[in-house]
Amino acid sequence: MELSQILNGLRDPMGVPFYPWLFQVLMVLTFALHIIFVNLAIGGSFMAFYEHYKKGENNKKLSGFLARASTVNLSSAVVLGVAPLLFVQVIYDPFWYVSNLLSAWWAVGFLCFVTAAFLALYAFYLKRKSDNMKGFGFFGVVTFVLLLLAGFVMHLLTVQSLEPAQWKAWYLTGTMMNTSGTTIYDFSISRYLHFIVPSFAITGVFMMLYGWFFSNRKDMDKDYLHWVAVSGAKMALWATIVQIIVGFWWLFSLPTALKFTTNPFLWIGAILGVVFFFVLMAAQNAPEKYAVLTALFAFLAVLGMSVSREVLRMAYLGKFNYSIYTYKLNLHWGSTALFLLTFVMGIIVMAYPLTIAWKLGRYGTANGEGA
Ligand code: HEM
Repeated sequence: MELSQILNGLRDPMGVPFYPWLFQVLMVLTFALHIIFVNLAIGGSFMAFYEHYKKGENNKKLSGFLARASTVNLSSAVVLGVAPLLFVQVIYDPFWYVSNLLSAWWAVGFLCFVTAAFLALYAFYLKRKSDNMKGFGFFGVVTFVLLLLAGFVMHLLTVQSLEPAQWKAWYLTGTMMNTSGTTIYDFSISRYLHFIVPSFAITGVFMMLYGWFFSNRKDMDKDYLHWVAVSGAKMALWATIVQIIVGFWWLFSLPTALKFTTNPFLWIGAILGVVFFFVLMAAQNAPEKYAVLTALFAFLAVLGMSVSREVLRMAYLGKFNYSIYTYKLNLHWGSTALFLLTFVMGIIVMAYPLTIAWKLGRYGTANGEGA
């Protein structure tokens, strides 16, 4: 039996309840949001312990803020990871499940890494609030390392899922089945770094936003806020330079048969990345003024990268005649309507507390008129 028949045969016989393009669009969008918060958690936890060890007055304050923000960003990364996980399981189920089975212990270990990262982050953050922080800086380092490890597991599961032609060789050694689930079969350092290096660019933009967000507050130290914004802009710029180099490294390490270097989606993504770089250059002298614009272009660059990532997956799997657009359709209006309704309700429910939090933070009062 041909591999493409096997792959299509592994699909859910019930089919999908709505047109697959909708799941794909939502998967790309929610992946972009997921990776932004992953980047904020990784970059934020790194900067929190780095600034902690620097020991200056401003460094200490920034470390405290980033430690607290990282707890929220990590929770958001986890919550926003569930959405692309559901979509990937719907339209790419044969690939995701096989990859998870091949390295099952790593897939389970992933949960332990994320849980341990959370606990270490809280130990770091809560202990920061007390006067005696002795020895607890170490927990910041532990958080960072565990998050890198968690990201690596997500990465290897994704990469393995793209190589169905290798699965048989991975499963079998001679006539013996490898059922331990402990082996890592494939990974790509350049691809992994492509998702990790932006942590420092995105966290830099976050620091610029921080400087801008509190700039109206009379009870906040203006020099400190400006220092944070300037440091963030500088870090984001350098990280973006490294990111462009890593991007080309990854691109040229891809199989030439995929012809990805001539794919227009890749170049749209790359152009968005370069535009972000130029906005960052302009922002260096007035980071607070450019903070919102920079954040907007950062989002567009990440979205462009997420679209290219999905187009790349389609190129990989197209080799095996796998297309999500040929998935059996079993239209079910009831569940689709329920899904969209809860989605909209969720936005409405979240809008109110977020508006209050925004006004409280930016102006110091809930009515937004300034303290
Ligand atoms: C909190 C620590 C986490 C980190 C550092 C992390 C990091 C990453 C990275 C780097 C990728 C891209 C991999 C690649 O394309 O090579 C990724 C993808 C993904 N992550 Fe996460 N992640 C985390 C948590 C989660 C959680 C808790 C979930 C689910 C509940 C999740 C679901 C996903 C999904 C579904 C993908 C995309 C898989 C695909 O498109 O094939 N992640 N993550």
